[in-house]
Formats: sequence, C-alpha cells, structure tokens
Amino acid sequence: MTIAGSTVLVTGANRGIGRALVEEALRRGAKRVYAGTRRPLVHPDQRVTPLTLDVTDAEQIRAAAEAVESLDILVNNAGVGLYAELGDRAALEQHLAVNLFGSYDTTQAFLPLLTRSRGAIVNVLSLAALAPVPFDPTYGISKAAAFSLTQSLRVALAGQGVSVYAALPGPVDTDMGPQGDIPKAAPEAVARAIFDGVDKGDEEIFPDPLSAAMAEGWPNSTSKLLERQMAAFVQAVPATS
Ligand SMILES: NC(=O)c1ccc[n+]([C@@H]2O[C@H](COP(=O)([O-])OP(=O)(O)OC[C@H]3O[C@@H](n4cnc5c(N)ncnc54)[C@H](OP(=O)(O)O)[C@@H]3O)[C@@H](O)[C@H]2O)c1
Repeated sequence: MTIAGSTVLVTGANRGIGRALVEEALRRGAKRVYAGTRRPLVHPDQRVTPLTLDVTDAEQIRAAAEAVESLDILVNNAGVGLYAELGDRAALEQHLAVNLFGSYDTTQAFLPLLTRSRGAIVNVLSLAALAPVPFDPTYGISKAAAFSLTQSLRVALAGQGVSVYAALPGPVDTDMGPQGDIPKAAPEAVARAIFDGVDKGDEEIFPDPLSAAMAEGWPNSTSKLLERQMAAFVQAVPATS
C-alpha cells in the first residue's frame, strides 16, 4: 500500500511522531490527511483536515468516523507514557485506556471505511511491546496488549483485504522519549521508516537503528512462526472482528 494518492488518518497528530507522520504523508503525496488531535489544529496545507479526536472519548470517535467519507490508512499513533511504577494501578488503567482501548475503539469505528477501501491499519507500538522497559512497566503492559490486538486484527481482517502493521520503535526524540543521555531517533526519520515499511508490506516495522538491530531474525522468530501457525489454524474457522 502506498501513501501517494491515499487518504490517511493519524491520531495524536499535533506533536512528536504523529506530527512527523502527517508531514511525511503529505511529502509522499497523500490525497488527504486527517489530523486527529485533542486541541484545535491549524495546518497550512489544504490537504490536511483537522479532526477533534480524543481516543478515549467515545462520542468524539463516533463524530470523527461520521465526518470522514473514505479512508485508506488509519495510523493509531496517540499514546501516553507515564513512567509509573508497577504498583501504580491508576497509571496502568490510563496506559490501557489510551494505548490499548483508544486504538481498539478508533479501529472499530473506522473499520467499515477501511474494509470498503481494502485499506491498512498501522498501530504505533514500541519495543516495549516485546520486552518490558523497567522504568515504565505499565506502559509495557499496554503496548504488549496492543501488539496482541494488532496480531488479532491481522488475522480477523485478512479475509477482508485490510492489512495490519505494527510499528515498534525504540527511543525517539519527542516529549515522551526517555530522558538522559541515550541515543534517540528523530521523529521525522521514524515517520519515514514507518511509511517505508507500509510500502514494502512489512507486518512488523522496526523504524530506527536500535529497533532495527533488535529485529534481526524477527521473520524467523518463535513469535512470528507461532503467529503464522495460529493464523493458518484459524483459517478453517474464519475469525470475526
Ligand atoms: N518517544 C518514544 O521514545 C517512543 C518510542 C516507542 C513508541 N512510541 C509511541 O509513539 C507514539 C507517539 O509518541 P510520541 O513519542 O510522539 O509522544 P508525544 O510527543 O508525547 O505525543 C503523544 C501524542 O499522543 C496524543 N495523545 C495522548 N493522549 C491522547 C488521547 N487520549 N487522545 C488523543 N491523542 C492523545 C498527544 O496529544 P496531546 O498533545 O493532546 O497530549 C500527542 O499528540 C505513542 O504511541 C508512543 O507510545 C514512542
């Protein structure tokens, strides 16, 4: 699936990786980019349509889905990283509300448009989906759950021609990115790599030097092989979304 000529919706589009994804989609010739944000957004490019979209607000999700006529690519990018301790249940709930249920509810709302266009879903996850980050364990729980959601959507929607991608960045230089003297990728480079991955049809996209190094061997990993085996198993009994 190529971005040129497509209609793309990015959640959390006002800063960080989301803003970079909007700019990259425009640079690649997207026909229309819906920019989902919690606060009003003004963009100089006529192809950008701002959408009020708090992904934890069912009414805003419903209104956004009604306002969009057609959609090729949904990018579930909005997220929070609270750097809380494992014992902080409220933080776990907040991580799940945004990083898991926000993506889940947004996807469900836009599914009719995506099945009509035989489009794509891109879930911006994290390497923390694959192994917990000690300084933000409840974030890791939410991203691991969102990774499982991504895999389930892939199986459920394959028969309807909708492709589902997981982007798994390492540290990125945004407000959310880890503090301290560790290498962080530029959000612009991460956005480019995410859309390159979608172009190439990489189901898992490792969009920065750190994640790319971790990803060596991913296609033949136990996790990926098991996913394929499970998918083949359920083909006998079509899954529902
Ligand atoms: N930065 C990293 O190191 C890193 C690494 C791996 C993965 N990621 C993932 O990449 C994605 C983007 O992160 P980022 O680094 O760009 O973070 P960021 O700069 O903190 O931006 C987060 C974005 O999500 C939005 N958002 C938060 N809660 C929302 C809600 N309830 N509804 C709608 N939008 C909401 C924010 O909007 P407001 O401005 O209104 O708060 C903001 O636009 C996240 O899913 C994150 O987990 C980041």
